[in-house]
Amino acid sequence: MARLQLQNIEKYFFTGSDIVEAIRNVNLEVDDGEFVSIIGPSGCGKTTILSMVAGLTTPSSGDVKLDGAKVTSQTTNIGYMLQQDYLFPWLTIGDNINIGLDITRTKTKENEDYAKDLLDQMGLLRHIDQMPSELSGGMRQRAALVRTLAAKPSLLLLDEPSLLLTIKQNYI
Ligand SMILES: Nc1ncnc2c1ncn2[C@@H]1O[C@H](COP(=O)(O)OP(=O)(O)O)[C@@H](O)[C@H]1O
Ligand SMILES: [Mg+2]
Repeated sequence: MARLQLQNIEKYFFTGSDIVEAIRNVNLEVDDGEFVSIIGPSGCGKTTILSMVAGLTTPSSGDVKLDGAKVTSQTTNIGYMLQQDYLFPWLTIGDNINIGLDITRTKTKENEDYAKDLLDQMGLLRHIDQMPSELSGGMRQRAALVRTLAAKPSLLLLDEPSLLLTIKQNYI
């Protein structure tokens, strides 16, 4: 069985008097170790699909299944990196990359070292005590990726990342 299954997914948004059909008839299977890209013009439903896989929104019809179980809410083993980096501006890069460990109360020395090592691999270790506003857009996106990977997700969702190659080379 595929790890991730999207079966006959449809999604409508209701906006006042209007109904927007975001996606229709989406079927997709992703196996362990696979790296899948969803490519299409702006507004075709890419973010909507990722948000349904992450359990942030539910399909209007059809099923999203992870390891055979229907996704009905957010689970911690999915890492979802949104298009905007959403680093907390009042925290240093070091504190930002550890925020997931703080929230899930898994901030052990080992996990902190793992996050630090990822930061090093992204060439950002010397920025660990800086604020997000002091980094370039690409650096911020890499820091956000470190934050996402630090939680060791078993499924990684990336919305329009400019760092696909780095990820593919190092983490697949
Ligand atoms: N929360 C929402 N409310 C209403 N319409 C939405 C909402 N989110 C997305 N849409 C609409 O659904 C369609 C798909 O959007 P989206 O998934 O963001 O596309 P993409 O990520 O491919 O650019 C678009 O027509 C968009 O306007
Ligand atoms: Mg989008």
